[in-house]
Amino acid sequence: MINTAVWDIGYLFAAALFIFGIKQLSSPKTAPRGNRLGALGMLLAILVTLSRMYTEGIIGWELIVAGLAIGILIGALMATKVEMTGMPELVALFNGFGGGASALVALSEVLDRIQDGNIPEPGVELYAVWLAIGLSGLVGWMTLTGSLVAMMKLKGGFEMPFSRKWIRFPTWGPQWLNGVKIILLISSFALIWMTINEPANKDYIWGIVAMSSLLGILFVIPIGGADMPVVVSLLNSLSGIAAAFTGFVIGNNVLIIAGSMVGAAGLILTFIMCKAMNRTLPDVLFKSFGGTADKAQLSRTKIGSDPIEVAMVCDGITRCVVIPGYGMAVSQAQHAVKEFADLMEARGVEVIYGIHPVAGRMPGHMNVLLAEASVPYEQLIEMEDVNNDMPDMDVAIVIGANDTVNPVARTGEGPLGGMPIINADVARIVVFIKRSLSVGYAGVDNDLFYEDSTMMLFGDGKKMMNELNAAIKDL
Ligand code: TAP
Repeated sequence: MINTAVWDIGYLFAAALFIFGIKQLSSPKTAPRGNRLGALGMLLAILVTLSRMYTEGIIGWELIVAGLAIGILIGALMATKVEMTGMPELVALFNGFGGGASALVALSEVLDRIQDGNIPEPGVELYAVWLAIGLSGLVGWMTLTGSLVAMMKLKGGFEMPFSRKWIRFPTWGPQWLNGVKIILLISSFALIWMTINEPANKDYIWGIVAMSSLLGILFVIPIGGADMPVVVSLLNSLSGIAAAFTGFVIGNNVLIIAGSMVGAAGLILTFIMCKAMNRTLPDVLFKSFGGTADKAQLSRTKIGSDPIEVAMVCDGITRCVVIPGYGMAVSQAQHAVKEFADLMEARGVEVIYGIHPVAGRMPGHMNVLLAEASVPYEQLIEMEDVNNDMPDMDVAIVIGANDTVNPVARTGEGPLGGMPIINADVARIVVFIKRSLSVGYAGVDNDLFYEDSTMMLFGDGKKMMNELNAAIKDL
């Protein structure tokens, strides 16, 4: 017979690994080790839980092995098959699974307890457990449905089974919807209160499931354009909070600790993203800035430059900034970008990288890609700092970025209104490397393309960067 203290010690180690792991995530240098520590902590927590479940006779080893095999297979397939550009959708989906798993555990616990008549007498225990069950359901189901909507919005839509027809996911948010969301939220809390008063009544539980699932959809559907990063990090935080509540429901300390950490870290990231977008959280959730915006119709044209012309502009300069965006991730141009920087540095040019906090499609997207190409961390300069240097830049190479350098944000109007940008337009020459004049994620036209000091190098990011590098070598 296993001494139960062994399990508690295992959970304690797992929690310690989470805490050390998350600490190491605070620097890009130590982040990979932090990731491994966190994964090790999770493995340990899973093994301890399975050993507990098996020993206590909750499930047989066949189910444990089957669950592990299916989970490992799906996880490994998803992680190896996903393209770097599909990562944000995968993260959104995993947030949803986290919330859904917590909600399901809480649901099965409450249904079991009702069926077995294992309901505490009215008092602190009943209030605490039923409140945790209600909140876990509310947050968990909301996270699941909200994350599924977020995932489809990040993908741009979904493919109909069989017909393979692509359906664009709508962004829809009339003002009256805010009233509906508030009514649903208040009704959900009322239902939680009613479950506490009538703990054996399953109808209230199903009511919470239905209302919170609807709330998740209604909260995320109006949010569009540039505000998606805030929503994704908020959903990440909610998945942790749901897990922490479930930890209270089933009396599992490691779930409470890990859930609280994810909840807190996600919330911090949400506020960082709000700051980066110059918005408050209620603004994002209730004003749906990007919500109703259709993609801008483009009417202007601009003659493109060629790599030789751009190489000649780069000849004899002293300072150059590279501003990467989503298109760099799509074209996987980071290695070619690093080669460009090496070539310029060999010619005595100082090269830095301007990193916008919401560039790409997930927090830290550009940092991860540039680190993969061995760009030194000290050359990655955050938006606020790089903006001080922008007036001294001879050339700004904007590769695959659009919204994050769009001066329209300064007007305070439209989906990008008020979002701080990297001031690429104050550099002496701006070179955009992208395939066309088309809009970025927020769907807004960019006046900077049409400025006299802007050169457009039309084409795939990696291909154009390689051609530019070849032209620089020929100078
Ligand atoms: P975007 O504004 O989305 O612009 C990306 C540009 O890349 C597009 O205009 C596209 O133009 C170009 N592009 C696409 N494929 C390319 C390729 N193969 N080669 C070269 N260029 C290519 O990017 P951004 O400046 O990084 O801004 C990010 C946006 O996404 C913000 O609005 C942000 O709020 C939003 N967002 C961010 C996150 C996070 S957490 N970072 C999450 C969700 C949404 P062409 O089609 O003309 O090539």
